[in-house]
Amino acid sequence: MPPPNLYTFPTPSSLATSLRAYILSAQNASIERHAIFRVAVSGGSLPSTLADALLAPPAEGNPHDRVSFEKWEIFYADERAVPLDHEDSNHRLVKENLLDKIPAEMGAPKVFPIDVSLLDDLEELADAYEKTLVASFAARDSVRIPIFDLILLGCGPDGHTCSLFPGSPLLRESEAWVLPISDSPKPPPRRITLSLPVVTHGLKIGFVATGAGKKNALHRIFDEEDAGLPAALVNRLAQERVTWFTDEAAVEEVVAT
Ligand code: 6PG
Repeated sequence: MPPPNLYTFPTPSSLATSLRAYILSAQNASIERHAIFRVAVSGGSLPSTLADALLAPPAEGNPHDRVSFEKWEIFYADERAVPLDHEDSNHRLVKENLLDKIPAEMGAPKVFPIDVSLLDDLEELADAYEKTLVASFAARDSVRIPIFDLILLGCGPDGHTCSLFPGSPLLRESEAWVLPISDSPKPPPRRITLSLPVVTHGLKIGFVATGAGKKNALHRIFDEEDAGLPAALVNRLAQERVTWFTDEAAVEEVVAT
């Protein structure tokens, strides 16, 4: 299997610059293709990195460096089953780090948070979010599976991504688009997550993983593919559609580069 694209940066700001170029290249191609840019984002440290990348001033004289938020639809790759203003909410993170800081002239994205009236019933919460995806994707594409223009993910120290954890039976799901999880090893335990087939059908899938806390996970993801860690499964199934943005500390133990 060819290794996925793995880029390593010495500083967070050089990572953010390159992540911006990657996102805007996906954005521009999507808008040209279907006049919309549908993105799924995870929580954790990603929203703050995303804000660094997207809120930076555009390069002067380069029309391709404009963030066209008015064409963006933002969905959550995973979300915790908590109110939207709760400290554990991924939507709150994205809102506070990015959405609330977008200047009016950059346009406003359409954002699709979970339906918090359904927090007590995880199955219903996941089904409702799947219907949200159907409403956006079925209008334009095949409904068998939603094909995001871009999926931006983090990766945990155990190799999880979205809320797909190592050894979870959810990794075997082949039909559902959105899954409930009640026993996430990373708190809080109650969440919903995109299924592995939805993640791996993304046109582009970008991982951001930085810091020494990720070095063992990245070593296992890249060098021990047979261990079947969720992030390694994304690499295996989506191959060259996957790009990794890392820093030097995170890849210190990776051999296969
Ligand atoms: C979540 C996530 C999760 C996260 C990783 C990495 O909501 O918990 O979406 O998959 O992206 O755990 O988190 P960090 O970037 O904070 O290490």
